Amino acid sequence: MAENNTLQSIISHAKEYGFIFPSSEIYEGLSAVYDYGPLGVELKRNIKELWWKHMTQFHKDIVGIDSSIFMHPKVWKASGHVDSFNDPMIDNKDSKKRYRVDHLIEDHVAALPEEEKMLILERMEEMLGAEDLEGLSEMIEELKIVCPISKTANWTEIRQFNLMFSTKVGSVADEANEIYLRPETAQGIFVNFSNVQKTSRKHIPFGIAQIGKAFRNEIVARGFVFRMREFEQMEMQFFIRPGTQKEWYEYWKEERLKWHQSLGIPAENFRFHDHVQLSHYADMACDIEYKYPMGFRELEGIHSRTDFDLKNHQEESRKKLQYYDHTLNEDGKPYGNYIPYVLETSVGLDRLILMLMCHAYTEEDLSTEDRKDSRVVLKFHPRVAPIKLAILPLTRKDGLPEIAEQLFDDCKMEFKCFYEEKDTIGKRYRRMDALGTPFCVTIDHQTKEDDTVTIRYRDSMEQERIPMNQIKELVQKAIK
Ligand code: GAP
Repeated sequence: MAENNTLQSIISHAKEYGFIFPSSEIYEGLSAVYDYGPLGVELKRNIKELWWKHMTQFHKDIVGIDSSIFMHPKVWKASGHVDSFNDPMIDNKDSKKRYRVDHLIEDHVAALPEEEKMLILERMEEMLGAEDLEGLSEMIEELKIVCPISKTANWTEIRQFNLMFSTKVGSVADEANEIYLRPETAQGIFVNFSNVQKTSRKHIPFGIAQIGKAFRNEIVARGFVFRMREFEQMEMQFFIRPGTQKEWYEYWKEERLKWHQSLGIPAENFRFHDHVQLSHYADMACDIEYKYPMGFRELEGIHSRTDFDLKNHQEESRKKLQYYDHTLNEDGKPYGNYIPYVLETSVGLDRLILMLMCHAYTEEDLSTEDRKDSRVVLKFHPRVAPIKLAILPLTRKDGLPEIAEQLFDDCKMEFKCFYEEKDTIGKRYRRMDALGTPFCVTIDHQTKEDDTVTIRYRDSMEQERIPMNQIKELVQKAIK
């Protein structure tokens, strides 16, 4: 199956089964904005919970916060976002379409041999880093890139567009202050550095984690929930002593890669991509890339942010953001006062969802000599599956629903269960496959006699008869 078809099939499946809908669909939708349906929201909550536990429970030196989306406008001046959070754009005068320059070049070279492609992309990244807009214009001309719609090379000059959304605070328009919707959650952590450090009595090295919405006016929206205008980030800033950033950078790279694999995705689907073009705040940076249907793309960023943010906030706010380090150096003296360096891990929740959907989505041909048959199954790891257990009485009578309800009540506090009486058992199994439910339990007439049930395993479709009182433990074991 072609890769585009796979992504298209996943988008259709996500909508049909209540994972992800286009936003405001009854009004033809809003570009690059999506809503999560009943199944999608469960998947999302499971991932958030796993990340949160991993960060704040598994690591005893990390605490969490939940800061607001609106922040003082000076935050974004100090962070560099007002001046530097730009994407270079170019317009085609004939089609009137606007493109991000790096996307235009990347798409053009996608089909070239790997070596030639990498040479062009490296040159492009250098020019982007140096903000060499003239050089990029020449590159587009040299590569004879045309607009995919008008097929002409009638381009405007390249201009920088700031990606932040702004709005006004205050009731009287003229007196209102312009503020921004945060383009990253990280700044909420930086401005709370002292509050958190003092109140949680943490010593360096320690981290602050946060999950929350971020907003970017992405000009070119592509790849479903891969690039959205409103999305969710899970970020952790790890505060360290200056000079130790290399070892922490390596530590967090490995740690985060292992976490992704713990979601049931094999190592060969990931790779690191070192940044040539560093963001305005970083001295080392890389992406963990996942092999999406459209190719390897950024899933998470690992950034060594130096003391850039705290230092600039200290200057802009005139409030001390230093830390006194009592630990002794090689000369037996305390390290004393310094502005901590920061190692950041930043993953997009929506990109994680897309990764899990892509990995799980499987079309299986189950045809036999006599009968054509197929199924679509989402092979989620039981830990992330939106529903863990489907409880299905074989019929609606003979006391079977009552037994099923009892099992439901016994399990519902431990994990998400689903109850259904309608349709044939075969149809119900197939629906649960499409939702990614790892276990189905059928209550039948034999259950009344010996308290046993049939458990059906999603991936193998095998069934076995086991005592009903073993079900809860079996599911708990699988999701642990
Ligand atoms: N605080 C650092 C930061 O925001 P970033 O590389 O710009 O760094 C971090 O973003 C992560 O946020 C990305 O790796 C990606 O997973 C996610 N992300 C960024 N822009 C996104 C968008 N428009 N839609 C969905 N996810 C996005």
